[in-house]
Amino acid sequence: MDHKKIYNHEKVSRDYAGRDYLDKAEARIIEDLKNLLPKFNMLDMGVGGGRTTKYFLPMVNSYIGADYAPNMIAQCRKKYKNKKIFEVLDVRNMDKFSNDMFDFVLFSYNGIDSFGIKDREAALKEIKRVLKNNGYFSFSSHNINWEDLYGLFKTKNIYKKLIGKYNFFDRKKCLKNIFIKSRLFLKAILINIKLNIQNKSFNIKFRINRLRKKGFMVLADNSLNGKASIIYTSYESQIKSLKSLGFSNIHAYSINGISTTDEKELNKGGWIYYLCQIKK
Ligand SMILES: C[S@@+](CC[C@H](N)C(=O)[O-])C[C@H]1O[C@@H](n2cnc3c(N)ncnc32)[C@H](O)[C@@H]1O
Repeated sequence: MDHKKIYNHEKVSRDYAGRDYLDKAEARIIEDLKNLLPKFNMLDMGVGGGRTTKYFLPMVNSYIGADYAPNMIAQCRKKYKNKKIFEVLDVRNMDKFSNDMFDFVLFSYNGIDSFGIKDREAALKEIKRVLKNNGYFSFSSHNINWEDLYGLFKTKNIYKKLIGKYNFFDRKKCLKNIFIKSRLFLKAILINIKLNIQNKSFNIKFRINRLRKKGFMVLADNSLNGKASIIYTSYESQIKSLKSLGFSNIHAYSINGISTTDEKELNKGGWIYYLCQIKK
């Protein structure tokens, strides 16, 4: 399970370079760190097309954006006309960086979910190594207990997503066209079957419920054009893993940008955002 080829695809990196919004939780994390950011030497890991660069670069003392996909870094260099602050680098092996180099590491938009559980641990250890004592780490991760998780696999929702890919005028034409509608519906059924096969189950609900007890799972959820499997974790198991590595002062943020320990609020979203500190 490695998504480097997918992320490095020209079309995917261009798509990421076109993004420049912040999620509510990310805006809240910036607000919570706002007094500290001017002193921070920051590593923006898995920077993608530089969505977060726009917000952090002007706020921090020093900034490095890194990604293992060369095309992502090429997009960042083009977008920000700055070669020096972007590096091609894999989070699992950051030999290029010495110990205790950064005050803040960000791994936004669930980049940490794009490799297996063992590699996730290697990545977290590397992040710990390059962080200074008391340094901050923020990331988001797919939420195994998201209340609408099953919805991802419903043919009806897959169909809606396929229609949503048409631009507005084409979409109007497409909705009138029975032929296009039938073709997309058939495609949605096929995607549904493919997802069941990829997840080795013809009852996804049953499988998810079983895996939820473990606290984490690898799920083919039709993201990245259906080519990728993604790690999903529970709030509880993520906190446990962070604590075992020496992270403390752990805060979780819901999709609504609310910092909370209330799992009902956290499970309203497909992603949970975390902010924590390392004690060395
Ligand atoms: C979902 S994208 C998010 C991009 C960007 N952070 C954003 O918020 O728009 C995940 C990014 O993580 C990068 N990534 C995944 N695994 C990585 C690894 N092992 N080392 C470095 N970057 C990685 C991918 O290339 C991709 O650009």
